[in-house]
Amino acid sequence: MYCVRNVTEDLYWVGANDHRLTLFENIHPIPRGVSYNAYLLLDKQTVLFDTVDWSACRQLLENVEHLLDGRPLDYLLINHMEPDHGASIEEILIRWPKVKVISTEKSFMLMRQFGFDVDAHELIQVKEGDTYCFGNHTVTFVGAPMVHWPEAMVTFDVTNGVLFSADAFGTFGALDGKLFNDEVDFDRDWLDDARRYLTNIVGKYGPHIQLLLKKAGGILDQIKYICPLHGPVWRSDLGYFIEKYDKWSRYEPEEKGVMIAYASMYGNTEAAAQALATKLCEKGMTNVALYDVSNTHVSTLISEAFKYSHIVLASVTYNLGIYPVMHNFLMDMKALNLQNRTFALIENGSWACKSGDLMQKFIDDEMKNMTVLNERLSLASFMHTEKETELDTLVNGIMDSFVKEN
Ligand code: FEO
Repeated sequence: MYCVRNVTEDLYWVGANDHRLTLFENIHPIPRGVSYNAYLLLDKQTVLFDTVDWSACRQLLENVEHLLDGRPLDYLLINHMEPDHGASIEEILIRWPKVKVISTEKSFMLMRQFGFDVDAHELIQVKEGDTYCFGNHTVTFVGAPMVHWPEAMVTFDVTNGVLFSADAFGTFGALDGKLFNDEVDFDRDWLDDARRYLTNIVGKYGPHIQLLLKKAGGILDQIKYICPLHGPVWRSDLGYFIEKYDKWSRYEPEEKGVMIAYASMYGNTEAAAQALATKLCEKGMTNVALYDVSNTHVSTLISEAFKYSHIVLASVTYNLGIYPVMHNFLMDMKALNLQNRTFALIENGSWACKSGDLMQKFIDDEMKNMTVLNERLSLASFMHTEKETELDTLVNGIMDSFVKEN
């Protein structure tokens, strides 16, 4: 059964939802599923904008065949060829052998590298600033390298103001019938997944996102719709999501608040983290989120680290090092280029307490533009009551840093 939505005039969503995939890119959990968005334009010429993951190919074909209703498919325009979007390219070429493929030079190179048999077809190589007319609609192409792969571009329909934004402005989460941002409560139900998607998938490439936002800024008043490759289509309140992308890609905290990430073996470091959270709330800082790194997926930890201004790392010492899961979190923050945060540390060790110094060294040596507060809570196995003064000093240090930042 076909499953399509009209986006505007002669443009249709022809993508699919995936609730079967457990791990996006085989690493990030997607309990709410994901959508692979593709769009079909029924102009004088017909144009398919991107394809879908192989697992959703049948749905894509049913959707396209239904809307074409016997017309030929004239163009296949590929903004991003990563297999979650490009895997069905060959199947489209088999069904519509006369289709002309529009994409970038790098994209065609990667298609060949992935073994897609495209060279028997007419390939139209485009670059930034080129335009193409399909009848009533004229589109222009804008390079978007590293958002999220080097070959990526976005396409702007100057006739109706639709921006086909590739991975930009995407999010985890299946659409399940809904399509537009104003059909969902994005802030309540989608924002966390949008942040987790952006920060984990493209977080490393903040400057490239900034470059794309700058280019989009030049035509902002002309953009009426943003059609990403995952998640809702934006047709209202575009500034809300653009501002989020701007913050995330500049590595600016979204909220003033404290993320406490703890690594605890027997519950003692966890107890100290809870005591810290309680005292912060008593002092009026109630925007506190507490996470056990051992049972929170690192993609969520990363998303929360991008959200909050302050991060407290509380770790036991393990084999004279940082607890492995906490170390992995630190490595991931570094890999995704997180910057401009204030850290505080809690360390624990029963016979050789090393984790505090090691976390401090990692943050100082391996990460950019981070501040580590001097106040540190150091535990030997257990949070004895005589340690309360040290904890209070840490709490005051965190609270003072909020005052200094204001
Ligand atoms: Fe959704 Fe970079 O692919």
